[in-house]
Amino acid sequence: MEIWSPRIRALTLLLLSFCPLDCRGSWMWLGLTSAGVPEKLGCSRLPLSPRQKDLCRRKPFLLPSIQHGAQLAISECQGQFRQERWNCSTSAESKVFGHELSSGTKETAFIYAVMAAGLVHAVTRSCSQGNTTECGCDSGLQAGGSAAEGWHWGGCSDHIHYGTWFSRRFMDNNTKNVTSAPGGYTLLTMNQHNSEAGRQAIGKTMSTDCRCHGVSGSCAVKTCWRTMAPFERVGTFLKERYENSVQVLDRSKKKVRRKEKEQRRVPIQKQELIFFNKSPNYCLEDKRWGVTGTRGRRCNRTSQGPDGCNLLCCGRGYNTHVVRHVERCECKFMWCCYVRCRRCESMNDMHTCK
Ligand SMILES: *[C@@H]1O[C@H](CO)[C@@H](O)[C@H](O)[C@H]1NC(C)=O
Ligand SMILES: *[C@@H]1O[C@H](CO)[C@@H](O)[C@H](O)[C@H]1NC(C)=O
Ligand SMILES: *[C@@H]1O[C@H](CO)[C@@H](O)[C@H](O)[C@H]1NC(C)=O
Ligand SMILES: *[C@@H]1O[C@H](CO)[C@@H](O)[C@H](O)[C@H]1NC(C)=O
Ligand SMILES: *[C@@H]1O[C@H](CO)[C@@H](O)[C@H](O)[C@H]1NC(C)=O
Repeated sequence: MEIWSPRIRALTLLLLSFCPLDCRGSWMWLGLTSAGVPEKLGCSRLPLSPRQKDLCRRKPFLLPSIQHGAQLAISECQGQFRQERWNCSTSAESKVFGHELSSGTKETAFIYAVMAAGLVHAVTRSCSQGNTTECGCDSGLQAGGSAAEGWHWGGCSDHIHYGTWFSRRFMDNNTKNVTSAPGGYTLLTMNQHNSEAGRQAIGKTMSTDCRCHGVSGSCAVKTCWRTMAPFERVGTFLKERYENSVQVLDRSKKKVRRKEKEQRRVPIQKQELIFFNKSPNYCLEDKRWGVTGTRGRRCNRTSQGPDGCNLLCCGRGYNTHVVRHVERCECKFMWCCYVRCRRCESMNDMHTCK
C-alpha cells in the first residue's frame, strides 16, 4: 500500500465521510489531528460503514481511483464556485465542508452530485487504462459502425457502467436507515437523488471522437470511440443544474414534490438537483455552520457578476490596496539565440471585502 500525502488523505477521508448522518463520529476519531504524519491506509483503518469496508476489502485496487475521484470533485467544485460567496471552501481541516454536507441546501446537492460524478469518472478512467480485470473498454462498441458513412468503432470506448455501479454502491446505502433522525430519511433521499444526477452527468456529457486513416490523411476510413468529457465539462454541466435546482418539500416517507405550488404536479426529473432548505447568504462567518463569510475575499470593482464587490461583499464595502506587480516585458529576440527582457513594474489596485 502506498503512503498517502496528508492532503490527499484529507480529500479521501472527505469522500469516505459521505455518511454525514451517522458516521460523523467515526471519522472524527481518525481526526486529521495527526495530519502531517503520512500513514499507510488500508480498508480496515478507514472510517467506513461496514458495507463500504466490505466493498473496499473486495476491491482494494480501486482505492487510488477513490482518491483521484475526490480530488477531481473538490478541485472542480472550487473552480466552479471560485467567484461566489460560497466558494466551496474547505474551512476547518477536520470538518472539510462544515455544515454543507447535512444542511440540505443546494450546495449540499452540488457536493453530492460532483462527488458521485468524480468517482464514476476516476473509476472509468482506470477501467479504460486496463488497470483492472473487472472492467475495461466498452466491448459493445468494438465492432460495427457504418461502412456506408466510412467509419467504424475502434480503440477504447469508455465504459461507464462499472464506475457507475461502484459509485452507487460506495456512496449510497452507506447509512443506516435513519428514519428516526429528524429529516433523516428525506435527507438521505435527497442525497441519493443528487448523487444519481451527478452520475448521469457523466453519460450525458460523453462524446464521440474519431481519427482519420487513409493515404496522406485522406480520411477514407475513420475510427471512432466514445469518450467521457474532461471533468471540467461535467462540472460546468452540474453547475448549471445547481443554478436551476429545485426546492422540494420535506415530507417524511412520502414522495418528494416541488415546493412551488403551481409546479407540484410536474414530476422531478432525474437530472434535476433537488434541495430542501434555502441557503444562508454566506456573507458573515458562522463557525457553528462552518461558513467562512466573505471578509477578506478579493472582489472585482467593475464586475456586475457574483465576483463584483457589491454582491460579494454583501454591501459592506471593500478595502483597496495597491499591489506592486512585476513582470518581464519588452522582450526582444537577440541574435543568436536568446531573449532579453526588461523588468516592468506596475501598481495595481486590489479590492478585498470589509
Ligand atoms: C493505472 O495504473 C498505472 C500504473 O500502475 C498508474 O500509473 C495509473 O495512474 C493508473 N491509472 C488510473 C486511472 O488509475
Ligand atoms: C441498498 O440496500 C438495499 C437493502 O439492503 C438493497 O436492496 C439495494 O440493492 C442497495 N442499493 C445499492 C445501490 O447498493
Ligand atoms: C428506510 O425505511 C423506510 C421505512 O421503514 C423505507 O420505506 C425506506 O425504503 C428505507 N430506505 C432505505 C434507503 O432503505
Ligand atoms: C474561500 O474563501 C475563504 C474566505 O472567505 C478563503 O479563506 C479561502 O481560501 C477561499 N477558498 C478557496 C478555495 O478559494
Ligand atoms: C473585472 O470585471 C471586468 C468586467 O466583468 C472584467 O473585464 C475584468 O477583467 C475583471 N478584472 C479582474 C482582475 O478579474
